[in-house]
Amino acid sequence: MGTIFFILVHPYLLFLSSKVSFAPDSINTSQFISEANTLVSKDGNFELGFFSPSSSNNRYLGIWYKNIPVKTIVWVANRLNPINDSGLLMINSSTGSVVVMSQNKSVVWSTSPQRQAKNPVLKLLDSGNLVLTVTDEKDEKSRISLWESFDYPTDTLLPGMKLGWDLKKGVNRLLTAWKKPDDPSPGDFTDGILEMGIHSYPEAYIWKGNKKFFRTGPWNGLRFSGSPDLNPNPVYNYSFVSNEDEVYYTYTLKDKSLISRAVLNQTTHTRDRYTWIEAEKVWKVYSTRPRDYCDSYGLCGANGNCVFTASPVCQCLKAFKPKSPELWSVMEWSQGCVRNKPLSCHTDGFVKSVNLKLPDTTYSWVNKSMSLEECRVKCLNNCTCMAYTNSDISGGGSGCAIWFGDLMDIRQFPAGGQDLYIRMSASELLEEKHGPKIKIAVLVAAALAVVSGIFLVGFYICRIRTNFKVKKKPNGIICHQNNEGQKEDLELPFLDLSTIVRATDNFAHNKKLGEGGFGPVYKGILEDGQEIAIKRLSRSSGQGLNEFKNEVILIAKLQHRNLVKLVACCIQGEEKMLVYEYMPNKSLDSFIFDQTKSKLLDWSLRFNIICGIARGLQYLHQDSRLRIIHRDLKASNVLLDSEMNPKISDFGAARTFGGDQSEGNTNRVFGTYGYMAPEYAFDGQFSTKSDVFSFGILLLEIISGKKSRGFFHPNHNHNLIGYAWILWNEGKPLELTDECLGQSSTLSEVLRCIHISLLCVQQRPEDRPSMSSVIVMLGSESALPQPKQPGFFLEKDSNEVHCFSSKQESSSTNEITITLLEAR
Ligand SMILES: *[C@@H]1O[C@H](CO)[C@@H](O)[C@H](O)[C@H]1NC(C)=O
Ligand SMILES: *[C@@H]1O[C@H](CO)[C@@H](O)[C@H](O)[C@H]1NC(C)=O
Ligand SMILES: *[C@@H]1O[C@H](CO)[C@@H](O)[C@H](O)[C@H]1NC(C)=O
Ligand SMILES: *[C@@H]1O[C@H](CO)[C@@H](O)[C@H](O)[C@H]1NC(C)=O
Ligand SMILES: *[C@@H]1O[C@H](CO)[C@@H](O)[C@H](O)[C@H]1NC(C)=O
Ligand SMILES: *[C@@H]1O[C@H](CO)[C@@H](O)[C@H](O)[C@H]1NC(C)=O
Ligand SMILES: *[C@@H]1O[C@H](CO)[C@@H](O)[C@H](O)[C@H]1NC(C)=O
Ligand SMILES: *[C@@H]1O[C@H](CO)[C@@H](O)[C@H](O)[C@H]1NC(C)=O
Repeated sequence: MGTIFFILVHPYLLFLSSKVSFAPDSINTSQFISEANTLVSKDGNFELGFFSPSSSNNRYLGIWYKNIPVKTIVWVANRLNPINDSGLLMINSSTGSVVVMSQNKSVVWSTSPQRQAKNPVLKLLDSGNLVLTVTDEKDEKSRISLWESFDYPTDTLLPGMKLGWDLKKGVNRLLTAWKKPDDPSPGDFTDGILEMGIHSYPEAYIWKGNKKFFRTGPWNGLRFSGSPDLNPNPVYNYSFVSNEDEVYYTYTLKDKSLISRAVLNQTTHTRDRYTWIEAEKVWKVYSTRPRDYCDSYGLCGANGNCVFTASPVCQCLKAFKPKSPELWSVMEWSQGCVRNKPLSCHTDGFVKSVNLKLPDTTYSWVNKSMSLEECRVKCLNNCTCMAYTNSDISGGGSGCAIWFGDLMDIRQFPAGGQDLYIRMSASELLEEKHGPKIKIAVLVAAALAVVSGIFLVGFYICRIRTNFKVKKKPNGIICHQNNEGQKEDLELPFLDLSTIVRATDNFAHNKKLGEGGFGPVYKGILEDGQEIAIKRLSRSSGQGLNEFKNEVILIAKLQHRNLVKLVACCIQGEEKMLVYEYMPNKSLDSFIFDQTKSKLLDWSLRFNIICGIARGLQYLHQDSRLRIIHRDLKASNVLLDSEMNPKISDFGAARTFGGDQSEGNTNRVFGTYGYMAPEYAFDGQFSTKSDVFSFGILLLEIISGKKSRGFFHPNHNHNLIGYAWILWNEGKPLELTDECLGQSSTLSEVLRCIHISLLCVQQRPEDRPSMSSVIVMLGSESALPQPKQPGFFLEKDSNEVHCFSSKQESSSTNEITITLLEAR
């Protein structure tokens, strides 16, 4: 009897008899969703129904994008309890809950029961949110929401969803990865805002099991502290809300026609943002967290600092030392660092560290209205307080955040990080303060000694300079350099002239490797067999003592595998020489512009060279404490070692800046035609972006095998940039590719490199990407912005720039570094 009654009223049968063919966007208590029908949001973008993941027969109720051919599930209801036959979704009006059941009527999933619900309706909104609403008992005309799927995310964060807490409802919205591609049950990888942190300085974490895996860093008013690269972008708006009722992160798409989602991935252990590329019908990764090794939670242990570009990456914070030097030295950093000197509480002070990702805020405290000075006092007065800073850096900085106990999971960025004031004992502070001054004094004294030494010796040598039988100077001149940031001075060995004369057979013609911007380069062999390259600065070169010292000081400090290494120097009278490691494969131009040798450089080698140059340049621009602008990047200044690794050389024109300065102006323009950015060549304005321009040109040359200067196309009058730009706009950029690359090239990589090169040579410096963005672009598959019009500098008929002081025209190359004097 009961069964018959059930059959009579059961909506399943009602539905079968009515055979509704259109897809509604909502159901009420007399309707339901079965295997035969779905709900579709009004705008047609999302669909709800039963599905089976790829290779599984289990049935799940889920929501996916309706309009894209790649089935992409964004939400799953019964992820814990799959159905093995066929499913049914309905609203139980007596309990006011939404239930999913299997054919045998067992409930596999349900929202929590409510009081008697009046006219409940379950609706799939355009946002992809599935919402259960009922008539408000107090106001018959309005409806209130009882439940929504956005409060119970699975692995996907859709636009408009909130990641974090609704403190009133007591709901914490976390992402949890699917266990496997065909199993939506929860993996052990989760993403969200830690409960403990809600009331202090909130931040989001990704956990692996119960261990922190990645930390975003606290929201600093502009972005998460650990994402200096999170900037306003064309794709989405993001915001973070933290008040008494709610603490969450959310984002919205700027263009409603875009499709983008963030998803947590158990396989790759990443949270990836994808955007749908309609033209190619694929999802492309837009960004990924964690990004690199230093994003691994707590990699360097307590009070450690991860510096991605350093080797090894882990360092102790200022005034800290490894807790276990033995373990630390074998790169086992988990023990972290301890103080050099104990604190004494009230006499302590603070030292400022810059460009950091702020430490884990689990043990922190925040007051949004305190000033930085009040913050310092607050921290100083509590002996367990270890650090403080502004809690909000928008609008110049405000609010107070303080940390108790060990400082965890700090990393240092080349730029864009935050200041942190770290507690330090008074004696340690004294050293910090006076240390640099003492060092500077030593440096100045050393420089003076060198300069006066040079003049004396120069005077002496004037009379005997024609042959090199110079008396050995008793260790007279030493290239004495203060190594950036380190206590001990870096001593650059000094080779005396006679040694160099022997090594090069008295500068024999057959030992000459080529002609650099400021003089010839010779190969030499020292008595111990070591091969060296000697750059002998010609007296008539533009390079005076200043440039020479510049180059020595710069290169001695630079340590990077994509920069050529200076091994010694020699200053004797008017002879100034730099001794480098020898690069058996000479320079890049000798390969790419040579018909036979270019065949040896297949695409993977070229790509490796491109990435190496980019890394070397990034190091110059951002990672050494001084910003260095090379100003003369070109194929002949890129040397290749025995394994064809590129090394940037020739720093004679380089300029340095303090960390926050990034451009300058000069009335002596160094550089090479065909590589110079327009604003530099015309106005003498150089910046890291003028190097980026040169890099873009170099990239085009490596791809095309054609020289930027002297490029000639029979059909039109354009230079290499112009030609690349035309091909790009005609939709056939790959025609630029060097013919000899043939089959070896990975087209997507080549295309990407052409795209990046056009971004680098854009007319306006501010449009060009930084070298670190270039590296990200080279390494990822995310969508790139469209390039704007390039700087068409030096077309065929505009060679009207005056050229001075470049007397030594070499027959082998017309790529001489020129010096332009700005007309006043
Ligand atoms: C449910 O919706 C259908 C179609 O809109 C309507 O005909 C029916 O009366 C509704 N049932 C209830 C119980 O509200
Ligand atoms: C009914 O189906 C569910 C899910 O398919 C299953 O877990 C349950 O064991 C089934 N019950 C019976 C009595 O078959
Ligand atoms: C579903 O699961 C139940 C219990 O495990 C089992 O009795 C039933 O045979 C299964 N049905 C199918 C179609 O596999
Ligand atoms: C609604 O839920 C109640 C309580 O769980 C249950 O007794 C009843 O059978 C359900 N109604 C339907 C139509 O499934
Ligand atoms: C996104 O941000 C821009 C600029 O801040 C604003 O004009 C726009 O209304 C925002 N869009 C959304 C959907 O919030
Ligand atoms: C996780 O990453 C792998 C490898 O990139 C990819 O095949 C898979 O589709 C991703 N899973 C999700 C849920 O995006
Ligand atoms: C925050 O700081 C302000 C200004 O110093 C003070 O008036 C206020 O009481 C503080 N709030 C808390 C919760 O400490
Ligand atoms: C210092 O801060 C800790 C942590 O908030 C707190 O427990 C302790 O009472 C504070 N001590 C003083 C002297 O304010």
